[in-house]
Amino acid sequence: MSAIDHIEFRNAAGQFLTGVTVVTTVDADGERAGLTANSFSSVSLDPPMVLVCIGNETSTVEAFKASNGFVVHVLAENQRDVSMQFASKGIDRFEGLDVSEGFNGLPVVAGALATFECSTARVYEGGDHLIFVGEVQNLTTGDTDAPALGYFRGRYVTT
Ligand SMILES: Cc1cc2nc3c(=O)[nH]c(=O)nc-3n(C[C@H](O)[C@H](O)[C@H](O)COP(=O)(O)O)c2cc1C
Repeated sequence: MSAIDHIEFRNAAGQFLTGVTVVTTVDADGERAGLTANSFSSVSLDPPMVLVCIGNETSTVEAFKASNGFVVHVLAENQRDVSMQFASKGIDRFEGLDVSEGFNGLPVVAGALATFECSTARVYEGGDHLIFVGEVQNLTTGDTDAPALGYFRGRYVTT
């Protein structure tokens, strides 16, 4: 049991302005899964690697563990509804979206500022989350003038 209060930790972490991503995969049965995540970071240039942290108790973590890859989508300002959809419980998170197949058949959602299609290189335990490190196999860069969706102090912000 840590001496650090959970709310205090969240408040302190929330002072760090992040972008917002949607991370997708397919599970062992070929079912699509995904979640909204702001724990994204680029890791390495050579080889190109990125990471995302996914909670051990989330409905999607088993799909990410079973899969050999994932796709990170960096959301644009006009994708706030996509962010909310992928953070909602008990719905088809892909409903109504333009989805194509990328590296290894992984689901790629259209309209992002950038996408990173990854093979899973490492999975590390990180407390109540798992840290998925992916090696980028394919990427796209979208509109470089479009504003990004950000997250700060528990609220969406824009750039
Ligand atoms: C802006 C934002 C960022 C989030 N970042 C993460 C994250 O980095 N990792 C994570 O596991 N969940 C994150 N979540 C929560 C998930 O999107 C999702 O709501 C949560 O995993 C509960 O989903 P479940 O019903 O699949 O368990 C974030 C939610 C929001 C709105």
